[in-house]
Amino acid sequence: MPAILITGTDTGVGKTFITYSLALALKERGVKVGCFKPVETYVRDVPEDGRLLASATGQPIEEVVPVSFSLPLAPYPAEIEEEKSFSLEELREHFFLLRERYEVLLVEGAGGIAVPLKENYTYADLAKDWGLPIIIVGRAGLGTLNHTYLTWHYARSMSLKILGIVLNGFTGEDVSERTNPRIVYEMTGFQPVCIKRHGGLSLSEEERSSLLALVGF
Ligand SMILES: Nc1ncnc2c1ncn2[C@@H]1O[C@H](COP(=O)(O)OP(=O)(O)OP(=O)(O)O)[C@@H](O)[C@H]1O
Ligand SMILES: [Mg+2]
Repeated sequence: MPAILITGTDTGVGKTFITYSLALALKERGVKVGCFKPVETYVRDVPEDGRLLASATGQPIEEVVPVSFSLPLAPYPAEIEEEKSFSLEELREHFFLLRERYEVLLVEGAGGIAVPLKENYTYADLAKDWGLPIIIVGRAGLGTLNHTYLTWHYARSMSLKILGIVLNGFTGEDVSERTNPRIVYEMTGFQPVCIKRHGGLSLSEEERSSLLALVGF
């Protein structure tokens, strides 16, 4: 399982948080793990996702995030608006370099799976071209059945290998949180890994083990 795409049902669902947590858990197991966020947008000063991921693995931030844009846009429109182009070929070379360097490489998408990196080129295309199996991160509460099903369905239609589904941010306050895991299982065949909304960045031991199991550890 050398490289995996952590994608999501939307922006802000917890991809970075889950990638960071998984990276730390793998590191604790003695695995040489790297993170890669090919493009980060809405970067003011330093890429924040890159900074958090780099703090887990000890990589330089520029290695984790080689391309960044300042506008809060998907990569493709950001490239148009900022008139600053990036090369998919260079990203792919960087990816191969990192894949060689680490035992496990966690690649974080931007937003959801159909977000465009280029004209007619989404993160699903990237996963296919780079041979990445995916983990889908979705919200725990109301609205997640539709988003999770659509993401799962689209990934399957692209013949992507799905390792699992993570429902993130259980609060115990939303009535749909009680039924969502079971319905996601019925709709997709994946028993989702459920992650609570935490005060800080630490997961429980059980949550860590469930995430590790998704990637075969
Ligand atoms: N289970 C959780 N417990 C506590 N905080 C969380 C949890 N999941 C996510 N967060 C917080 O919610 C915010 C959004 O999560 P995150 O940045 O991981 O989303 P994302 O899917 O990576 O977004 P983007 O599309 O911008 O990359 C962050 O501040 C993160 O620390
Ligand atoms: Mg993120």
